[in-house]
Amino acid sequence: MDLESYIRALPKAELHLHIEGSLEPEMMFALAQRNGVTLPWDSVEATRAAYAFSDLQSFLDLYYAGAAALIHERDFHELAMAYFARAHADGVVHAELFFDPQTHTERGIAFETVLDGLERACQEAQTRYGISSRLILCFLRHLSEDEGFATLEQALPHLGRIHGVGLDSSEKGHPPSKFTRLFARCRDLGLHVVAHAGEEGPPAYIVEALDLLQVERIDHGVRAAEDPALMARLAREQVPLTVCPLSNIKLCVFDRLEQHNLRQLLEAGLKVTINSDDPAYFGGYVGQNYLETAIALGLSRAQLKQLARNSLEASFVPEALRSPWL
Ligand code: ADE
Ligand code: ZN
Repeated sequence: MDLESYIRALPKAELHLHIEGSLEPEMMFALAQRNGVTLPWDSVEATRAAYAFSDLQSFLDLYYAGAAALIHERDFHELAMAYFARAHADGVVHAELFFDPQTHTERGIAFETVLDGLERACQEAQTRYGISSRLILCFLRHLSEDEGFATLEQALPHLGRIHGVGLDSSEKGHPPSKFTRLFARCRDLGLHVVAHAGEEGPPAYIVEALDLLQVERIDHGVRAAEDPALMARLAREQVPLTVCPLSNIKLCVFDRLEQHNLRQLLEAGLKVTINSDDPAYFGGYVGQNYLETAIALGLSRAQLKQLARNSLEASFVPEALRSPWL
C-alpha cells in the first residue's frame, strides 16, 4: 500500500482545527458576494497570493478579515460541511472543532447564529459520514478576561452543545495567567479545557496552562523542547500535544519541515498528535499534514499508527466509546 493510502486508512481524530481557518478563498468570495460584504482582496487568486505569513499575527490579521464573510446560520453550516467532507476523505472519524464566537459577536452576529449553524453541520456529519464531533469555544486571548466572561455568559444557555473551551489568537504578551479565573469558572461548569501554548510563546506559557488553567491538552506546545524538565513532565503525565506541522512552517515557527521537532517529541515519549490548525491558509488538511511530515521526518508506519492512535486516545470521547476505532 502506498503511503498516502496507508495514512488515509488510519482511523484518526482531528483535535486542533479552527473552523474559521477552513474557509477556502472560493467560499470566502461566494459568501461575501451573497452577503454583500467587501473583502480586502479583489479575487480568489489575490487572496491566495496574500497568504505569505511572517508570524502568527500576520496570519491572524488576514484570518479575521476573511471571517467577515460569515454572516448567517447557513454560512456557518456550509463552512463546517465543507470541512467534514475533507475530513472524511482523510479518514477522520472524530473531530473536535474550535470556534471563535468573539470574532463574530464583535461584528454584530448573534452567538446563536454561529452555534446553530455549526451544530447542525455536526449532526449532519454524523449521519452523512459517520463522523462524531464536538464543539470547543475558544476565547481570544488578545481580548480581556472580562470580555471572555461576557462570552461565557452568552454560552451559558447552550452548555449542552459546547463540550469545552480553549484559548487562541495572539500568544505573545497574553500568557495563560491572564485567564486563570475564567478557566476556573469553565472547569466548575464541567467544561473540558485546552489552550494554545508554546506555539510562539515560551515554555513557561505551557507550564502556566498546565498549572493555572489546568488544561487537559496543550495546543501546539512545540517550544516545550527548549525545557528538559517540562519535556520530562509532559512525557510522565502523558499530556496530549495537538501539533500542527504545516501551520508551524507557514507561520515561521520552524524554517523547514525537515527541521520540525515532532519526531523528537514523539520519540521522547510525549503524546503527540497531528492536526491541521487552519488548513485553508496553511496548505493542507490533516491527511496532508501526516503525509508531508512523514516524508520530511522519515516517520515509520508504526509511528504514523501511533500518532493516529494518540489522537483517538487524546480525544474527549469517553474511553468506552472509542473501541470501534482502536
Ligand atoms: N487562531 C487560529 N489559528 C490560530 C493559531 N495557530 N494560533 C493561535 N490562534 C489561532
Ligand atoms: Zn490553533
